[in-house]
Amino acid sequence: MWDSYRLKTAATGVKRLATLSAEDKQACLDAYRFFQRMQAGEQTDTAQETKAVADYYKVLNNMLSVFDLEKLYIPPMLDDSKGLYDNQILTEKALLAELDLPHPSSSHLLDMGCGRGRIAHHLATLTGGQVSGYNIDPDQVDNGNDWAARCDMSDRLHFKVGDHHEPLDYESESFDGCFSFQAVWPFFKKEELDLHAREMYRVLKFGARYACSEYLLTPFFDWSNEEHVALHRLYLPTLAATQSMYPADVCAALERAGFHVIVSAPSKSEAWPLCEQKRDLILHGRRVVRALEKIKVAPGWVEESLDLLQRGGEAWTQAERAKLADLNWRIVAEKR
Ligand SMILES: C[S@@+](CC[C@H](N)C(=O)[O-])C[C@H]1O[C@@H](n2cnc3c(N)ncnc32)[C@H](O)[C@@H]1O
Repeated sequence: MWDSYRLKTAATGVKRLATLSAEDKQACLDAYRFFQRMQAGEQTDTAQETKAVADYYKVLNNMLSVFDLEKLYIPPMLDDSKGLYDNQILTEKALLAELDLPHPSSSHLLDMGCGRGRIAHHLATLTGGQVSGYNIDPDQVDNGNDWAARCDMSDRLHFKVGDHHEPLDYESESFDGCFSFQAVWPFFKKEELDLHAREMYRVLKFGARYACSEYLLTPFFDWSNEEHVALHRLYLPTLAATQSMYPADVCAALERAGFHVIVSAPSKSEAWPLCEQKRDLILHGRRVVRALEKIKVAPGWVEESLDLLQRGGEAWTQAERAKLADLNWRIVAEKR
């Protein structure tokens, strides 16, 4: 059942989509085509990829908020009697337990790739402490800060623009834990992992942990298998990701940075049933989008984007069911 908060969020999303500038909308479509060219083999550098990601998410975060995806990740289906939002809540609680905070109420956590800050808000509510977060897209950061102010939590929630590919703009040894939800490893090339792992290590206090729920390939994914590669080409742009890492490569970088990896394991349950639920909702939404297009409230590109989202989503379901990739691979690592 949708409550008034979610209905209001959806309405704001539609309004934002209708009022985004023509440049922003074009940049979003250009970014999607850029992702597709990347998958077709075009050589691109990280700066171009990061720009495309920021342009894409600026529109996508508003579009997905219409479909009740304000937190921009699909969780594992931990409880099949519940919907996507409640499964996100369960996933976030489980991650917080993995951080094993000795003093939750005085803790300060870092949310890497924090989106609109709603996960940070949830964890700050659970711990009673502070959460900082950074994101490449100023639109999401503004939304997070507005929300913190509305909840009267600006003293405990701090969001700013930041880029994983740069040194983190935080003091050394300032956090009691850091975490990420489908926001870090999908944007790194193998040779870039060490730099970020070292930065994570630097900003954490001694004994603090990193925990994540992240898109990674499974060890069954084989780059020399044409079927695997064909699915990957279709689904990766839909995930709005630019890279696909193996858990072993990420863990090796964390270990080289000085972390002790405690857990590296597949998600506790699959995400594809929730992806499919969302796909059905989006299909339903397309009728509304077409109606809005007719009365010129939504421009034609919205439906084109939904179409691309739809086809990539189907490829994702196939890849996940075949256990080739995991949206919620779990890693827990401790600074030692
Ligand atoms: C799949 S979304 C997840 C967002 C958030 N963790 C959540 O669950 O709501 C991926 C996020 O990573 C952010 N992102 C991508 N590349 C980034 C970068 N280089 N630096 C910081 N954030 C980045 C995107 O803007 C987006 O908010």
